[in-house]
This record gives sequence, C-alpha cells and structure tokens, in this order.
Amino acid sequence: MSRIVYVNGEYLPEENATISIFDRGFLFADGVYEVTSVIDGKILAFDGHVERLQRSLRELQMDTPCTMEELEAIHRELIVRNNLVEGLIYLQVTRGAADRDFAFPVGVKPSLVLFTQAKNILNNPVVENGIKVISIPDIRWHRRDIKTVQLLAPSLGKMAAKAAGADDAWLVEDGFVTEGTSNNVYIVKKDGTIVTRNLSTDILHGITRAAVLKCANEAQMKIEERPFTIAEAQDAAEAFFTSASAFACSVVEIDGVKIGNGTPGETAKRLREIYLIETMKTAK
Ligand code: PDD
Repeated sequence: MSRIVYVNGEYLPEENATISIFDRGFLFADGVYEVTSVIDGKILAFDGHVERLQRSLRELQMDTPCTMEELEAIHRELIVRNNLVEGLIYLQVTRGAADRDFAFPVGVKPSLVLFTQAKNILNNPVVENGIKVISIPDIRWHRRDIKTVQLLAPSLGKMAAKAAGADDAWLVEDGFVTEGTSNNVYIVKKDGTIVTRNLSTDILHGITRAAVLKCANEAQMKIEERPFTIAEAQDAAEAFFTSASAFACSVVEIDGVKIGNGTPGETAKRLREIYLIETMKTAK
C-alpha cells in the first residue's frame, strides 16, 4: 500500500512526490535529517530531535523551512494519514534547488521532506540476541556532530560488516572508538561503570544517548564520558549501543571476541526498560 508523504507543503501518495534534480541534497548532500520513533501513535523525544535539527541547520547556515510547531503538526498529520501505530518518521531538510555551484545560493527556499516507515521497533529480535560488530577505520568528515545526509561512509561500514558476517561496524579513529555506523556506543566495565565517548565534533550527539545517560545517572549507575579502545571493549563486562530506532541494544561480539559470556548484558536490558518507561512519559 502506498504511503502518504510530505514534500514542500503537500501531502501526496509516495509515487507522486517529487524533488528537483537541482536540489542541493541530491547534488551536494547539502542537507540534514532526523529520525524519530513512534510507539502507540506517539512521537518519542520530539523536542530533543527538533532542538538538534535546529542546531544542525544553524551550523550549516541553512534556513529553517517552517516553525517547529508546524513541524510537529506535519509529524502528527503523517501519523494520522498513514495510520502509523509503531515505526519511524524520517525528516530531511536540504538547502533547496539552485543551479549547480559549490557556494551556497542566496534566497533559495529549503526543501522539506518527511515520510513514515511502519516497523516493529519494540519487539526487535536484536534485543534477545544482541549484535556482532567489527571495527573499521572512521573515514567520515570531521563534523559528525551535524546530522547531515552524507551517509556513504556509514553505508560502506554496514556493507563491510555484512561481508564479515557481522551486524554493524564500530568506527575507530586514532586508536579510539568514535561510534557505530548509526548509533552511539558504550561499554560496561567489570565494576559496573558505563563508559561512552564524550561529546565533541567527533560524534553525533545522540538524543537517545542523552536520555539513556540521564536514566543511568538517576539509577545511581557510574558513568565515565571518555574515549575507549577496541581492546578495552573486548575486555569489558558488556557492550551496547543506542539510537532513536533501536533504543538500547547489546553488542555480544567485537571482531570475533565474545563480550562477557557472549549474551546480552543486564545493564543494557535494564537501561532499555527504564529508557522506554521514561521516554513514553513525554511522548507526544
Ligand atoms: N542514526 N550516531 C550516528 C552516526 C547516528 O547516525 C545516529 C542515529 C546516532 C544515534 O542518535 P539518536 O539517538 O539521536 O538517534 C548516533 C539514525 C537513527 C539513522 O541514521 O537512522
């Protein structure tokens, strides 16, 4: 069945939705995006995603396509029109369409596209089994704090993982793990301390990361925000990752080495549960 998608002010069946071939998202990956989860028809952590979107736009001197209230209304309308109970909403803003030139065009209206993806995100088989990851060099640009649509490096990473019989890749730079291809990553030391890379331009400032760390803090868990190596991760009691679509999920193997006893750890399970309870309280 065809979805109803949103393109520049219009709600259209997906097959009728079009964007200019001169759109700078298409020509230069000159765009930013957000992915939010929907459970029971409600949007999770909407305010956090909107704040990060505004930051991404600011960092790239890109105009805002509409007010944030309008953005929320579009999300809601898409949920209604597509009868979305559980799944994701993808939002993309690009600088708009203009004749090809590296310099930013002046006075061009940004393009705004949103679509839904119906998906079972609560009962994810990954939660039961955890995932296997490989490590690969982080070849991305140096402003990973901006959520841009230039995602070829993560795509190559996922393909490398697939070819190696793994589920994802952890990206390594100067000997330290930055993040997963599309998630923030954590280890749990044998004394229970959660270690995750500190915020900087090296990683995306995950909305789920912020919420999960808040939950961990409130549950009196110890947290260290600092870089860690693959060797330290392989020696840890647990490893896990967070993202808007996966919440918190365990990593059970890194580069062929089992983490702990090779099954999903208790800390990740507990954080996932607390996170879901807390985030549903503010779901819109
Ligand atoms: N990815 N790091 C990277 C590189 C990401 O692409 C993502 C999200 C995250 C987690 O951020 P958040 O908790 O705000 O989702 C970290 C989304 C889900 C995606 O590209 O589909």
